[in-house]
Order: sequence, then structure tokens, then C-alpha cells
Amino acid sequence: MGLSTAEIQSRIEALGPWFHNIEIGGVRTAPNHFLGDYPHQKFRKFADAIPADLSGKSVLDIGCNAGFYSIEMKRRGAERVLGIDFDDKYLNQARFAAEVAEADIEFAKLSVYDVGALGEKFDLVIFMGVLYHLRHPLLALDLIREHVAGDLMLFQSMQRGSTEILPLEGNYPFTDTHMFDEPGYPKLHFIEHRYADDPTNWWAPNSAAAEAMLRSSGFAIVSHPEAEVYLCRVAERPYGAEPVYPHKGARQ
Ligand SMILES: C[S@@+](CC[C@H](N)C(=O)[O-])C[C@H]1O[C@@H](n2cnc3c(N)ncnc32)[C@H](O)[C@@H]1O
Repeated sequence: MGLSTAEIQSRIEALGPWFHNIEIGGVRTAPNHFLGDYPHQKFRKFADAIPADLSGKSVLDIGCNAGFYSIEMKRRGAERVLGIDFDDKYLNQARFAAEVAEADIEFAKLSVYDVGALGEKFDLVIFMGVLYHLRHPLLALDLIREHVAGDLMLFQSMQRGSTEILPLEGNYPFTDTHMFDEPGYPKLHFIEHRYADDPTNWWAPNSAAAEAMLRSSGFAIVSHPEAEVYLCRVAERPYGAEPVYPHKGARQ
């Protein structure tokens, strides 16, 4: 792109603040990130769980932010990478980072609730760090499963509460209530006000809930390489979890 370091620095400042600490032309976008060298240091823990060679594959990065994962997947040889986010500020950051990295990535303004408009399935869907920001998390998972997930999904959610997984029966009588008080029962904590000063943090699942929600939306867990990260594969939806919103083939 031929920009000097000073020009890159000034573009980074103009596009900030950044949530992704990315190195662009030798300049870091968020060197004082509250999570440390984020997302690099998180990615290092599960980078090996994703195929190293994505040649010929398509990738959809939902809630792509400044494009860290989109750029990483392009580096792995993905033929087509589409990053979507509903925030123009982040999309502008992603476009600049990809341009300087000479990574041929498409970015589009789109909400996860509108993925059906893409009319296309992707070999790998990345759905990292978005679920707990949504008021309707299961709807989002259902829409991803229905419309865009072609094979694999890399998923992450903030988790709070127990990391225990209580083995569950397929059914319980109405009078049985003890399991709801077990720490390892799936629990999705609702945040009415604020958590971590962020008014868009709506939900905090415990580990059991994160896993159960994935299964319930028709994703089988292939591996769990990091505390909050899952690699999933498209699977059958369990009985009762078929989409109930109007879509092709649904009962009206
Ligand atoms: C915590 S950041 C995660 C960014 C990145 N995926 C990661 O894991 O580092 C959440 C991102 O999701 C985006 N986002 C939140 N709600 C969204 C929605 N309904 N549709 C698309 N993107 C959304 C935000 O703009 C933000 O870029």
C-alpha cells in the first residue's frame, strides 16, 4: 500500500479505538488492551484446532470486528473470506487492516440476524465473542445453522458460573426440581443492567449451557481446545428445535 509508519499510525488513531490489537505495517492498534495481547494470546491456545490448510474453502466471520480472524483464515489459504459486522467503525478498521496486509477479504455490514440474506453456505463459520452480546442468542444460532453453516463452526462465548457439566436424564417428572440448583445444570445468566461496563453484555452461560445451546441448535461439538472455545460440526437438530420462524419449508 506504500504508507509510511507515521501515516499508518495516524490512520490507526483516526480509526480507533480498537478492540483487536493487530499489527499493521509494524504498528500495533491496541497495545494497552485490557485483555493483554488480544486476540493473539487467546488464538494461540486453539489455533491448532482449525485446519491449517483452508485452500479452496469459504469462511464467514460473524461479528468480525477489526478482522483478526478473517485475516488469519486468509493466511491459511481460504479461497473466500467474508467478514460481517453491524458496526461501521469496526468494518472500516477491518478494511484498513486487510488492505495493508494485502489480504483479499470482503467485508459487509450485516447483522447476524440477517445471515439468511447471504443465500450461501460456508465451509467454516466463525462465531466468536458475539453470542453474549445478543438479546436473542438461540435465534442467532438457529439462523446460522439454518442458513450459513455448511460444515464447521468455531464458536466462543464469555462464560460465567460453574465449568461442571451435570450428566442429565432425557426427561424429568414435573415434581423433580433438585437438578435446577446443581451448579453443572445448564444456566444462562441474564444481565439486566451492566456487566464489565458494557450495556451489550446480555447473557453469560455456564459451560453446560454453552454446550447445550450448541447441541440444541444442531451443532455437534468436535473439540473444546480452550475454556470458552468450541469447534463444532453441523449435525441433526434435536426434536423440538426446528426453526419456528417463517422460512423456506416451515409450516406457516
Ligand atoms: C466482543 S467483539 C468480538 C470480535 C471478534 N469476533 C473476536 O472474537 O475477537 C463482538 C463483535 O460482534 C459485533 N456484533 C455484536 N452484535 C452483532 C450483531 N447483531 N450482528 C453482527 N455483529 C455483531 C460487534 O460489533 C463486535 O465487533
